[in-house]
Amino acid sequence: MHILHVVGARPNFMKAAPVLRALSVYPKVRQTLVHTGQHYDAAMSDVFFRQLEMPAPDCNLEVGSGTHAQQTAAVMQAFEPALLDRKPDLVLVYGDVNSTVAAALVCSKLGVRVGHVEAGLRSGDRTMPEEINRRLTDQLSDLLFTPSEDGNENLAREGIDRSKIYLVGNVMIDTLVRLLPKAEKSLPSSVEPPYALVTLHRPSNVDDLDWLRELLTTLADLSARLKIIFPVHPRTRQRLESLGDMPTRESNSQLCLLDPQPYLEFLALQRHATLVITDSGGIQEETTFLGVPCLTVRDNTERPITLTRGTNRLVGRDLKRLRNTAEEILGVGPKTKQTLVPLWDGQAAQRIAQIIVRGSTND
Ligand code: UD1
Repeated sequence: MHILHVVGARPNFMKAAPVLRALSVYPKVRQTLVHTGQHYDAAMSDVFFRQLEMPAPDCNLEVGSGTHAQQTAAVMQAFEPALLDRKPDLVLVYGDVNSTVAAALVCSKLGVRVGHVEAGLRSGDRTMPEEINRRLTDQLSDLLFTPSEDGNENLAREGIDRSKIYLVGNVMIDTLVRLLPKAEKSLPSSVEPPYALVTLHRPSNVDDLDWLRELLTTLADLSARLKIIFPVHPRTRQRLESLGDMPTRESNSQLCLLDPQPYLEFLALQRHATLVITDSGGIQEETTFLGVPCLTVRDNTERPITLTRGTNRLVGRDLKRLRNTAEEILGVGPKTKQTLVPLWDGQAAQRIAQIIVRGSTND
């Protein structure tokens, strides 16, 4: 059996790594890894392959950046011949990035079976490119692997046949469980707890420069109370540069802007943070697993289980609420109690591998 994995952007790598490992123990399974090249900076891609101990990609489509249409079309055009050439029995796509939907669409047009890892998540917010990518990818997929029960319900509500849906748990948590012991020793030497960890890269937060300026001013205010560590995504870096005179490491030692961090360093930063402020999807899940309070600067989340079972709180685009909730957490003390989410146990990829190899259905 030949399985071809498609990855393209940073959050795909930690999801694909455990599935590649889990499938590698089956002698009859042959695997191919295709990197679309959506993320191409060494700090956004190569270092993750090294730290996650992933095999080098068998081919890189080198699509790079562009508008959504350009990037999606570039993946489709480059992936089609690669797929025809390699003729896999099944293609696995991950998460909700442009590379995910582009690859799934190529497969379904060519009649190649597709499995979607991290299926069923919904924010209900169609202004997010990821929400469009998720909905389309799920409609195109033959096997849908969900991280939590809400994913199964969302898919069933959209008319997807239950026999295609498998609740397997969270593959990103598989990687976290495996690498947390190593990450314990990986806190960047320039960082000393206590601190709040910040990441922001969503278009809704960083593309509107007036909003970004206000957000940064709020963070600078907060940094008078607690040091802020802010690894900056390339997209955010570009926007910050166009703001010009904003606080940086040089002007404000309490608000430290860092380069994008490798996997182990970033996991260590989360593990030792008093509080995390983010607009990422995966970080909402990782902080829930780690029991670290998380404030999400978005109006909605496709991961509601992190609100109901975990440590996540939505503060929306409301800076007063962000400030007050952060102050409240700092007043209460360092940590909320960790609650485990069912099947976020480090074994999700093994369940996926068994389902694929067994070739069974849910009938
Ligand atoms: C993409 C995903 C998003 C995910 C994020 C994680 C989509 C629609 N979005 O967003 O879901 O949370 O990855 O990082 O697929 N850039 C570089 N170097 C790189 C990659 C990007 O400088 O290696 C810059 C480019 O200017 C590019 C911009 O970042 O235009 C945005 O990159 P892109 O892949 O389009 O989307 P992300 O914002 O990274």
